[in-house]
Amino acid sequence: PSVIYIHPNGSRQTLDVPAGQSVMQAAVSRGIEEILGECGGNAMCATCHVYVEPDQLDRLPPMGDDEDALLDGAAADRLPNSRLSCQIKVTGELDGLVVRLPDRQV
Ligand code: FES
Repeated sequence: PSVIYIHPNGSRQTLDVPAGQSVMQAAVSRGIEEILGECGGNAMCATCHVYVEPDQLDRLPPMGDDEDALLDGAAADRLPNSRLSCQIKVTGELDGLVVRLPDRQV
């Protein structure tokens, strides 16, 4: 499946992501610097914050309590479409998911 990352400067980068990887893992392993993923994907750091395209939000599973609490402490503003990218596992159904990268994670 492909995931489209939009950098803060507006440029788009499309990654072909193996199913089962998270949106965070795919970004970190391919050198997308706006996602840090400091806790390794355990919903403990909020440095993998992304903004999901609003019209695609309902494609995602609902967020858990840990994710919800952590997003309150994210470095960039929390918006209604904020999610932790480590909690988004890429599947065939999510092909074409678009996420915007915040301008800071710390
Ligand atoms: Fe730490 Fe997502 S990588 S919360």
